Amino acid sequence: MSLLMHTLHVDLGERSYPVYIGRDLLLDPQLLRQHVSGSQVVIVSNDTVAPLYVERVRAALGECALLSEVVLPDGEQYKTLETFAGIFDRVMADNHNRSTTFVAVGGGVVGDITGFAAACYQRGVNFIQVPTTLLAQVDSSVGGKTAVNHPLGKNMIGAFYQPSAVLIDINTLHTLPARELSAGLAEVVKYGLICDEPFYRWLQQQMPRLMAREEAALAEAIERSCSNKARVVAADEREGGIRAILNLGHTFGHAIEAAQGYGKWLHGEAVATGMLLAMELSARRGNIDAREVAQLGEMLRGMHLPVTAPADMTAQDFLSYMARDKKVIDGRMRLVLLDAIGAAAIVDDVSEMELVALLEGASHPL
Ligand code: NAD
Ligand code: GLY
Repeated sequence: MSLLMHTLHVDLGERSYPVYIGRDLLLDPQLLRQHVSGSQVVIVSNDTVAPLYVERVRAALGECALLSEVVLPDGEQYKTLETFAGIFDRVMADNHNRSTTFVAVGGGVVGDITGFAAACYQRGVNFIQVPTTLLAQVDSSVGGKTAVNHPLGKNMIGAFYQPSAVLIDINTLHTLPARELSAGLAEVVKYGLICDEPFYRWLQQQMPRLMAREEAALAEAIERSCSNKARVVAADEREGGIRAILNLGHTFGHAIEAAQGYGKWLHGEAVATGMLLAMELSARRGNIDAREVAQLGEMLRGMHLPVTAPADMTAQDFLSYMARDKKVIDGRMRLVLLDAIGAAAIVDDVSEMELVALLEGASHPL
């Protein structure tokens, strides 16, 4: 029996859309169907998620005049222009028209590629996100960032393109590997740190329930994360300013992901270490108490997340990858730091010396 626990709205004028959160939502015959605009549908998933959930999605869609399924190979290393182009080979061969709806069923990789494909097919078709990892449920499915990677940089080719609905069935989390759950929880912690101190304090108490996948705790954490993200995205859809706070820890994290080769560290794992570095830098600048850094490290360790940078990464390695960050403007690196717990700020005055001093110790426990 399906149970709709929360409905949020991402408020973007004519591009506004609902985010549904609940149990067994894929078994609800109405929820998904009402957001399909025509009678043609393309389901995009991958070879891990498709056998688990695509049949349910097909059933939830009901009768379609034309239904195609594209199953991508699983993995960040396939988040490429080549995989992206393969989607069109199938959609064109099946003769989908402009009123088709793309439905992404999977984690952030499937969601990002499918969203970008929907943005490009016939200059833009309807698109629904059915995220099945915690990371995708609290972050990548909401907000309209879509992309594929280039060998020289992550998410470098893409578009802002909003879905018409996001359907989060928390039951899909039962099959998620533990390491992926932890990586998603790193992004949950991020929201508390950047803009919601009460939520952060709640997470410090409730983390064992989340790690144990307790349904009520997960639904609460997903709702709070998505409403924080929706608020930031509504204020700055195309990241002209404040949206960059959603990247706390990501500049350091992306450097780790790129230096190690995509897929070795999970995105959320790299973000966890990156957030701790950003916290440490915030503490060194006198913005927050060093005890907060130690407590965050403790919580991340308890979540089985890495808290030190790879041993073979030097400060110079970090700096060369960080220089390619999308937040760099006119050669000035911008970083997200904390003014306080729950209050992030974007700063552009961090000196190379400060960074080197921070990063030289990054592979040792902070
Ligand atoms: P992912 O998509 O690679 O999924 C992780 C793994 O879990 C995969 O092996 C996948 O097949 C498997 N999986 C997915 N759902 C499952 C389920 N219910 N049961 C069992 N296995 C399941 O990784 P992710 O962490 O979801 O997403 C990371 C990607 O998201 C990165 O490419 C990152 O750049 C992107 N991202 C985008 C945004 C955005 O705003 N668009 C934000 C954050 C991250
Ligand atoms: N994940 C960062 C953003 O959506 O802006």
